[in-house]
Amino acid sequence: MRGVTAKTGRALALLALVALGAMARPAAAEVPKPKLPPAKGEKCVEPTEVMRRKHMAYLLHQRDDTLRRGIRGGKYSLRECLECHVTAQPGKPLPTYGSPEHFCSACHRYAAVHIDCFSCHRDRPEPEAARAGGPAPADGLTGRTLPARTLKVLGPVEVKP
Ligand code: HEC
Ligand code: HEC
Ligand code: HEC
Repeated sequence: MRGVTAKTGRALALLALVALGAMARPAAAEVPKPKLPPAKGEKCVEPTEVMRRKHMAYLLHQRDDTLRRGIRGGKYSLRECLECHVTAQPGKPLPTYGSPEHFCSACHRYAAVHIDCFSCHRDRPEPEAARAGGPAPADGLTGRTLPARTLKVLGPVEVKP
């Protein structure tokens, strides 16, 4: 009998904790949200609400498509994300990843998310010249020409005639 009472007691304590947690939640929701810099363009590649929850899955899937299956120019290109989302504020240079003004890190700092993507990929849009069709860097990994010039460590390299 005693054992049962103790068990019930523990169960009740647990329930109380859960209830407390539930009560604490609305308060936590009032913590200021990260301030995201404005995006270019009319809308995202998916509805905003969906992007908030699922952008990581889209990006990782797109990367696998490119690296494993050689599919390029997909809908969830990292380069395109940066084109729209990493914009300069008046009188300031483009923010770098890690700064609270950079779209991706504004949120990731807040949510304590760590990503290594920008150790290889550019964290800002490409310079105009590269977009305008300058020589594409070769990636050194596959020997293929890179249409995506988002990579910083692997390019640019000289193109031999
Ligand atoms: C070790 C270097 C490296 C790291 C780290 C890395 N990538 Fe890449 N990524 C590449 C290379 C190389 C390609 C191939 C580019 C090509 O062939 O077009 C690529 C391609 C991609 C592509 C498809 C091309 C594009 O512009 O959309 C996406 C999306 C992508 N990576 C996302 C990510 C994400 C998200 C992360 C972090 C979770 C990440 N990558 C980390 C090297 C890296
Ligand atoms: C054509 C421009 C454009 C492209 C490309 C784009 N976005 Fe967006 N994105 C937007 C706009 C506009 C919004 C809505 C912003 C708002 O509602 O204030 C948005 C919203 C978002 C949000 C939600 C932000 C919030 O307010 O919570 C995330 C996350 C996001 N985008 C990530 C991405 C990622 C990751 C990519 C690349 C796979 C990408 N976006 C590509 C324009 C773009
Ligand atoms: C609205 C807030 C928000 C914005 C803006 C945002 N992220 Fe995220 N991101 C998150 C959160 C939260 C997670 C962690 C989700 C989880 O762990 O379930 C995450 C996770 C990720 C991951 C997966 C990390 C891992 O190892 O699991 C990648 C990759 C990523 N984000 C890339 C980006 C890129 C690139 C941008 C900018 C184009 C961006 N995110 C903008 C909130 C955001």
